[in-house]
Order: sequence, then structure tokens, then C-alpha cells
Amino acid sequence: MNQNFRKIITIDGPAGAGKSTMARELARRLTWIYLDTGALYRAIALTALRRGVDPADQPAAEELARSLKITALPGPNGTSIIVDGEDVTEQLRKPEVSLGAATISAWPGVREVLLSIQRGLGDEGKVVVEGRDMGTVVFPDAGLKLFLYADPEARAKRRFTELTAKGENVSFDGVLADQSKRDEADQSRPVSPLKAAPDAVTINTTNLSIEDVLQVMVNAFRNRFFCKTDD
Ligand code: DC
Repeated sequence: MNQNFRKIITIDGPAGAGKSTMARELARRLTWIYLDTGALYRAIALTALRRGVDPADQPAAEELARSLKITALPGPNGTSIIVDGEDVTEQLRKPEVSLGAATISAWPGVREVLLSIQRGLGDEGKVVVEGRDMGTVVFPDAGLKLFLYADPEARAKRRFTELTAKGENVSFDGVLADQSKRDEADQSRPVSPLKAAPDAVTINTTNLSIEDVLQVMVNAFRNRFFCKTDD
């Protein structure tokens, strides 16, 4: 393996582009660690909602984030999050938490708290991280950067299927509308907006199977880490 490259693979992209599925599967194949950074934003949003803090209230949200003891425990199927000693992982996927996370992630003070946690988790190396600003801000020196995207309808369909399978009472139109709000929030925030790093490999997953996307990723990994010439 080419030792010049940091052993971190970043996967960024909008909600529903397939990041979690692909990051988890790629990490499994490589026997690397899988880290879902959205879970950290979700944990702060959940705590805000529980404590009656409005995620849109910047000073209150930033103060809350700074006051929490947050631990992320990466596992093969996802990232468990402990907030002040309580494992909140099971409650992070609810639609209101998704919207709260999209709002709260705009605040620089919140992002700063999570930046050091995320970088600490990447220190060990051999990690596949997914999020919105992994390749642009958190791990700009990652060995391989991937950016996944897909048409909005295809992404909403995936999320709708996932939520209904979990027994959530949601409509397709509602999921699509929430997704548009989150896309807008992710792309328009002044701090760390969602965008592909200039050196990222971009993959449109709209019409690709999981295996197809995995092939593209594994090829990109081989080219990057095992190529003979430095680029
Ligand atoms: O990937 P996700 O849907 O679990 O992310 C939840 C929210 O957190 C999403 O609206 C954007 C935000 N987020 C972020 O701003 N930066 C990250 N690295 C990961 C997530």
C-alpha cells in the first residue's frame, strides 16, 4: 500500500445519496472502521429538542453543544452516540431530529465542538467517514475522497422505504419536502456547506445498484492506494 496517503476515505453527499449503505459496506470489505458523522449532529439536535432549546437559536444551540459530553463509538453497522452517559443512538433517526440536525449544523460553534471529536476518531487511520464536509474541511488530507449524489426523487424514495420499514408513519411527499429543506440548509450554510472537494471522485448513484457503486469505489481505492506513481 502506498504509505504516502493518509488511510482515511471520506464519503460526502446529500441525504439519501447512499452514503451510509456504501460507507458501511466499503468499510466491511476493507476491514476498516466505519464512522457516521451525521449521528453526532443528530445527537445534539435530539438533546436540544428534549431540553426545549430551539435548534434555530444560535447562541443557545452553541452553548448546549459546548456543555455536552459526547462520545462516538464506531461499530460495523453504525455509530453509537453517548451524550452525558446516555446512549441515544436509537432515537436519532426520527424525522424531527433530521430537520433539527439540518438547522443546528449551520452554527459554527456546534461544528467546532464536533470537529475535534471527528478528527480524534480519524487519528487511528483505516477509517471510512461519511458526512457533508469530510473531504473539504474535516479530513482535507484524506487518501481518497468520494462524493455521492442522486436525483432528488430517487433519494426520497430510498428514505421513504427505509422509514416505512422501521414503522414510521410518513408520506412520500412529506419525505421529499423534508429532504428539499435539508438540501437547502446543507448547501446554503456559510460554514462548511455541502460540496464536493475538488479532488473527490463523484458518483451518480441514481441508476446504480449497491454492487455497482461498490465496484466504482473499490476501483478508486485501488487506483489511489496501490498505484505505482504518486500524483
Ligand atoms: O447524514 P445525516 O442525514 O445523518 O446528517 C444529519 C444532518 O447533519 C444533515 O442535515 C447535515 C448535518 N451534517 C453536517 O452538517 N455535517 C456532517 N459532516 C454530517 C452531517
